[in-house]
Amino acid sequence: TEGRRPLIAGNWKMNLDHLQAIAFVQKLSWGLKDVGHDYDDVEIAVFPPFTDLRSVQTLLSADKLSLKLGAQDVSPHESGAYTGDISAQFLAKLDVEYVIVGHSERRGGHGESDETVGAKARAAQAAGLVPVICVGETAEDLEEHGAAAIPVAQLERAVAELPADAEYVVAYEPVWAIGSGQAATAEQAEEVCRALREQLREQRGETEAAATRILYGGSVTSQNIASFLRQPDVDGALVGGASLKVDEFTRIVQFKK
Ligand code: G3P
Repeated sequence: TEGRRPLIAGNWKMNLDHLQAIAFVQKLSWGLKDVGHDYDDVEIAVFPPFTDLRSVQTLLSADKLSLKLGAQDVSPHESGAYTGDISAQFLAKLDVEYVIVGHSERRGGHGESDETVGAKARAAQAAGLVPVICVGETAEDLEEHGAAAIPVAQLERAVAELPADAEYVVAYEPVWAIGSGQAATAEQAEEVCRALREQLREQRGETEAAATRILYGGSVTSQNIASFLRQPDVDGALVGGASLKVDEFTRIVQFKK
């Protein structure tokens, strides 16, 4: 991680309604207090569904909790006739700091192109949010092109939309590892994360490449988290299923212990 503060992000996907979200965040933050979690050492963000954000925001601000708030998607548009879209401005108003763009479940399930993902990243950044740009290869891509080529090309197109001083996070999620229980090995993750950083170095320069956090995602658990974070180019994790269990997620964010 070479000086970059690790980020552990919990992507809840379409789980937990707003009442369940309140109970979950209370339990999680109290538990983290009990174990004395140092948020300066390891940053933690939760990414609930849109309909939970207001409730979770109220809880975080009322109790002065150190968890960060993220959203799972954002509109590429600012405002207007876009039925069903949620703007980056709306999210910023709710103290949302991070927003996932280009998750494979949106690229695949909702036909999002690299162009759309880039436009979403740009809209998020323009509103003061930090986009978490997801990239990753399918099992077929892996067979055809190897692991790094597709994620590197996806990253190149997304960051091309961002201004030079932009802050963003990259999440490498091999599609075959998501929800499958079959995580990449730490070496596989490092190989692609290194290639992604190399791409940033060429495209955006050394300073930005060295400052940008690159996360691994795909079947992360408390058993494998430490092996990923030991890699020089892996700066955290985007956790799906295991972020929905308070005890397991607590163990994950405490990976140093
Ligand atoms: O965004 C995180 C996700 O896609 C990984 O999911 O359930 O394999 O941890 P999971």
